[in-house]
Order: sequence, then structure tokens, then C-alpha cells
Amino acid sequence: MRAVVYDRYSKDLDALEVREVPDPKLPPASLLVEVRAAGVNPVDWKVMAGGLDALMPTQFPVIPGWDVAGVVVAVGFDTPEFQVGDEIMAYARKDTVSAGTFAKRVAVPVSTAARKPASLSWEEAGALPLAGGTALRAIDALGDLTGRTLLIHGAAGGVGGFAVQIAVAGGAKVIATASERNHDYIRSLGGEPITYGEGLAERVRALAGGPVDAVADFVGGQRDVTLDVLSDGGAHVSTADPSVTEHGGRYIWVRPDGTQTARLATLVEEGSLRVEVAETFPLDGVADAFAASQSGHIRGKLVIVP
Ligand SMILES: NC(=O)c1ccc[n+]([C@@H]2O[C@H](COP(=O)([O-])OP(=O)(O)OC[C@H]3O[C@@H](n4cnc5c(N)ncnc54)[C@H](OP(=O)(O)O)[C@@H]3O)[C@@H](O)[C@H]2O)c1
Repeated sequence: MRAVVYDRYSKDLDALEVREVPDPKLPPASLLVEVRAAGVNPVDWKVMAGGLDALMPTQFPVIPGWDVAGVVVAVGFDTPEFQVGDEIMAYARKDTVSAGTFAKRVAVPVSTAARKPASLSWEEAGALPLAGGTALRAIDALGDLTGRTLLIHGAAGGVGGFAVQIAVAGGAKVIATASERNHDYIRSLGGEPITYGEGLAERVRALAGGPVDAVADFVGGQRDVTLDVLSDGGAHVSTADPSVTEHGGRYIWVRPDGTQTARLATLVEEGSLRVEVAETFPLDGVADAFAASQSGHIRGKLVIVP
């Protein structure tokens, strides 16, 4: 089958190539999925650069990509949850970095899969599981937000856009940082946009009418503003700054989990969650997609359509 591969860790995106590789085997407790769309996440190029080498074993050549939406074409031993022909989506990370989703087919651990909502396009479904699951875990970790004010750093990105909607659905008033060109987008998600940079803490206090009850950081480097605007005893989380734990916060690390992805599907079906797709790329456009992601200023999600 055709897949995107790299043969060594590299920061040079020229190391990505499209070539014929053997079809994936179908392990027990797995689904063989024909890939229709696969979301791009910053972790994909961070892994390629060797950034997770201390955490996860890697077997080269690596096919990058952890998000997938597609059609089940075979089921492993004892996987009654799904049948051939089912349309699924998954954050399909495995314990070893190797056989990812930027390919025509991929084996998906059944524990990570959920049914794709009929209302989502393939591109939208492929973009949702990893970033949406991260947003869910981050918002869950902040406790009950009903009637509370939440500041979100990095609200226009993949995780941030989902987090705004999940928090609004949970009854929060959401103040959301983004550049001005994204302010209408933030409003469309139910958040109150605010420009980041110099003077942010003062602007947040003015908009909130005082300190905020909780903060979620999806950018990193936000410690000073977070601690400045957070009320005494307020909860805060970050997906981008592990040192948040040194200041009473919680570092969020997303776990592949089909139940979590099914919760996202339910939010979509209830009309509480939508997916913003910024751009799609073919398999031979993965280097362009990684370069766009590295810009740090994509609204919503980038998606590979193999
Ligand atoms: N720990 C985990 O399990 C986990 C899981 C997923 C993601 N992450 C990490 O979480 C972070 C966010 O991921 P993502 O997928 O959402 O990334 P992303 O989609 O690439 O985020 C891009 C967004 O960041 C915004 N942004 C850039 N600089 C900003 C700033 N100084 N203040 C506010 N917003 C800013 C941009 O908005 P503007 O264009 O408006 O500036 C853009 O929309 C990344 O570091 C990622 O690696 C961690």
C-alpha cells in the first residue's frame, strides 16, 4: 500500500517520502481500517524530530499520524464491537511509534475506536479524536464549570477550539485568547475572544470583572498571566507546559480511549461540538501540512486525505 514514511528522526521535512510498504498485519483486538482522513497534530512532527524518544520505543521506517477516520475492512480475533463496513474514528496511537495513519490502511486497536457520527464528513471525523480527546481531558480536570469563568490560552487551534465548545456546553463563561483575525471564529464557538500579548492579564480581569475561576493553557509559556488572573484555589491545566505542576496546575497527557472518542461523537450529535477544518492535503502533501502546523497559527485542524 502507499504510505508516508521516514527512516530516521529528522527535523528536515524532506525526510518524509511516499512509497509502497507492506500492508499492515491485523493483530488481535484490532480493526483493519481503510483510511479516509487522518488529522495532523503538532505531536506528529515532534515525534519525527525525536522529541518523544525518551518516552516511546520507535521502529523505523515510521508511518506518522495518530488520528484516523475510515471504514473497517477486517476485524481481528474476538472483536465483536465492530463489523466490516463500519465507519469509525480513532486516536489510534500504539505503544510503539511505527505504523501510523498517514497511509491507505492502518490497524487500529479496537479499544481506541468509536463510531463516526453520520453528520461529520470524513475530514471532520479524522480531525477530531486526538485534539478533541485532549480538550475533554483538560476541561474534565477543571471540575464543574457551571456558571464559572474559564480563561483558555490558544483557543483558535485544534485543541483550543474543541475546549471552548466543550466548556461552553458545560455551562462556563469562556474568555478565549486568539489573534484578532480569529475573533469572529471564537465568537462562533461561544467564547469571548481576547487578544494575547502585552497587557493580557489586565484585559482578562477587565472582561471577567475580576479573577477567573479556572485556566486552560494550550500554548505554553503562559505561567505569569495564568497565576496573575487565577482566583485563590482556582484550577489550572496545561497540555503544552509540564512545569505547570510546579505551580499547582495539572499537566494533561491524552490517552487513546474509544470511550472518550464516543463522548466526542455524542457531543457532535447533540449539536454541542463542530470541527473546523483549515485545509486538507494528499499523502504527498504531508511535509506541507507539517510546515503549516509548525507555523503555530492554524485555525482548527489540518487533515491528510490519502
Ligand atoms: N499533552 C498532550 O497530550 C497534548 C495533546 C494535544 C496537543 N498538545 C500540545 O498542545 C498544544 C496545542 O495543540 P494544538 O493541536 O491545539 O496546536 P495548534 O492547532 O497548532 O495551535 C495553533 C493555535 O495556537 C494559537 N496560538 C499561537 N500562539 C499563541 C499565543 N501566544 N497565545 C494564544 N494562542 C496562540 C494560534 O492562534 P492565532 O493564529 O490566533 O495566534 C493557532 O490557532 C501544542 O503544544 C501541542 O503539542 C499536547
